[in-house]
Amino acid sequence: MKESLYRTIRLLEEAGGPVSGEVLAERLGVTRAAVWKQIQELREQGYGILASQKDGYTLVQSSGRLLPYEVKKHLKTRVIGRQITYLPTTPSTNDVARWLAAGGDPAMLHGTVVIAEEQTGGVGRLKRAWVSPEGGVWITIILKPTLPIDHVFMITMAGAVAIARAIRREFDLGAMIKWPNDIYIGDKKVAGLLLELAAEADTIHYCLLGIGIDVNIDPSELSPGLQRAVTTIQAELEHEVDRAKFLARLLREFERHYDLLESQEYDAILREWRSMSCTLDQHVHVNTLTKSFQGEAIDIDEYGALLIRKENGRVERVIAGDLSHP
Ligand code: BTN
Repeated sequence: MKESLYRTIRLLEEAGGPVSGEVLAERLGVTRAAVWKQIQELREQGYGILASQKDGYTLVQSSGRLLPYEVKKHLKTRVIGRQITYLPTTPSTNDVARWLAAGGDPAMLHGTVVIAEEQTGGVGRLKRAWVSPEGGVWITIILKPTLPIDHVFMITMAGAVAIARAIRREFDLGAMIKWPNDIYIGDKKVAGLLLELAAEADTIHYCLLGIGIDVNIDPSELSPGLQRAVTTIQAELEHEVDRAKFLARLLREFERHYDLLESQEYDAILREWRSMSCTLDQHVHVNTLTKSFQGEAIDIDEYGALLIRKENGRVERVIAGDLSHP
C-alpha cells in the first residue's frame, strides 16, 4: 500500500467520524478527485468507507487484511516485523523470504517478516503440501542468528512457545506444543512451524522461520481429511478475530523468546516449552530417517532434542523425526 493511502486511512481513523472531501484534500495536499481515487483504492484493500455528499467520507470498517499498516498499529517490537513484505497471494512466503535473503544482506534483513493473505504452494514439514487459504496467518521471518549453530534448532522451540503463548493470551484457548513443531488445541492441529537454514561449516548465513496458523478459516472450507486433523481459531471461538492484532502479539512473543535465545538463556525457553507440552510423559512412536521405535517422552534438552526412554530402559535422543501419540 502506498504511503499516501496510509495517510488517508490514518486521517479517517483519527477523525472517528465523517471527514469532508475538501478537508481530506487540503490535509493531504491533493485534489478532491485524487481523494476519491484513494478512497476507491482503500475500499479495494478491504476498508469499508461510506461516502455522502453532505458529510463526506466515514470509515465504518477496518480492512480485515494483514496489511503492514494494520499490523504495525499494534506492533510493540524493536526488530521483528519492523520491515514487512506483504503479498496478497504468492506460492510460498518461504520462497519470497529465501529470494530476499539470498539476494541481499541477511544482517540488514534480520527480523523482516514476509506475509501473504493466501499461498498457492505452501510447504510443510517433509515437503508436504500446506493448505493456505485466505484467513490464515502465513508468514516467514528472516533471521540472522548469532547463537552457536548447534543450538539453532532452539529457534523452533522459541517459535512454538511464542505461538502457543500468543494463542493463549489473545484468545484464552488452551494451545499445547507437540514436539517438534506443531501447535494443538485439544486433539487437533492449529499451527505449524518450519525452520530452514542456510549455513556453511559453522557459519549461519540466515534462517527462515515459516509459521502457518489456521485463524479465520471456516473448517467446512477444508477437505474432509483435513477437517478431522485440523482446527482453526474461528472454529474454537465460533467467531472471526482481529488477525493483525494477533500477529503483532505473536511477533512480540517471538522477539522476547528469541532475545532469550541470543543471550543463551536456554533454560527459560525450555521451562515454558515443557509447561505447554502435550508430548512429555506420553508414550510415543518415533520415525526418524534411519529407524522407528517407541517409548516414553521424558524431556527435551537445550538443543531441542527429545529424550525418549525405551522399554529396555535406554534413553534415545531424537533431534529430527516424526512423532505420533497413539
Ligand atoms: C508443518 O508442517 O507443520 C509446518 C508448516 C509451515 C507452514 C508455513 S505457512 C508460511 C510458510 N510458507 C510455507 O510455504 N510454509 C510455511
